[in-house]
Amino acid sequence: MPNLNEVIRSTPKAELHIHVEGSLEPRMMFDLARRNGVPLPYGSVEEVRRAYSFGNLQEFLDLYYEGMNVLRTEEDFLDLADAYLRRAAADNVVHVEMFFDPQAHTGRGVPLSTLMDGLERAIARSRERGVSVSLILCFLRHLTEGEAFETLEAAEPWRDRLLGVGLDSSEVGHPPSKFARVFDAARDMGLRLVAHAGEEGPPEYVWEALDILGAERIDHGNRALEDDALVARLRDDRIPLTVCPLSNLELRVVDDLAAHPIKRMLDLGLVATVNSDDPAYFGGYINDNFHRVAEAVGLSPEDIQTLAKNSLDASFMVPEVGGGQGVVRNR
Ligand code: ADE
Ligand code: ZN
Repeated sequence: MPNLNEVIRSTPKAELHIHVEGSLEPRMMFDLARRNGVPLPYGSVEEVRRAYSFGNLQEFLDLYYEGMNVLRTEEDFLDLADAYLRRAAADNVVHVEMFFDPQAHTGRGVPLSTLMDGLERAIARSRERGVSVSLILCFLRHLTEGEAFETLEAAEPWRDRLLGVGLDSSEVGHPPSKFARVFDAARDMGLRLVAHAGEEGPPEYVWEALDILGAERIDHGNRALEDDALVARLRDDRIPLTVCPLSNLELRVVDDLAAHPIKRMLDLGLVATVNSDDPAYFGGYINDNFHRVAEAVGLSPEDIQTLAKNSLDASFMVPEVGGGQGVVRNR
């Protein structure tokens, strides 16, 4: 077996938990601020980096929503997604299921068509390079059910460009059940369903995501490990967890990477995957997440291969008849 670094580098993988807005690097934030004449509360790239020290999810979200204020035009969304997709390809990512937060843009006057068209152009380029990409529209759970419904309706003209819907933003106080009817409507539209749950929220939120929303994957899911019956459910139904080690470290979901539960999740028979979440904010893209957590908890080359295989199995990709890899239903 080649060494760990070589296995991480060379193993094909899918990324299933990446918020495209969370891939906005400080350098690009400055470039777009200048291009669009948007004032920034930072004097330099170094100052931005220094500001990225978070005590919890909300402290991160405050800077995340502030940072994306520089995204104004179709070109901005093209450049953002294109940079991420090139970076992912360099990590041997063969398929991406990419989250985006439309309400964070429409809420400040950027039309949905602007981001949909920019993202679509980046996706077309990525497909030409051989990396398939699908879009998952996330509802911001700190906003109302009515606002989520409005967003789903507004997205109907782009239905065929969407793979599914997700649920993100401030978790505690906004249980999945708040969006039960919105997810029912999304299911009726034939969209796939995922939800962030158990990042900061209790195991009950993971149960709700499964039983009330009908989520097919759980984003994060760390706190599910507190409930043995829930672990059994996730294992028996092979519900994937899209786990984000560096995010968990930076948002204090774990105190120390050595205490990260990724190995325990594998040992419990869970379909765990490794992802970057918001790589520009948490200090690493997908292979950095693999490297750092592997070193911290002692993953073997076989564990890396299991995690990578899990990501391909957990994706909503439909394998090409004849066994081709990385081929996705055209959405
Ligand atoms: N939006 C972007 N990153 C997120 C995270 N880690 N949790 C919830 N919402 C998010
Ligand atoms: Zn996330």
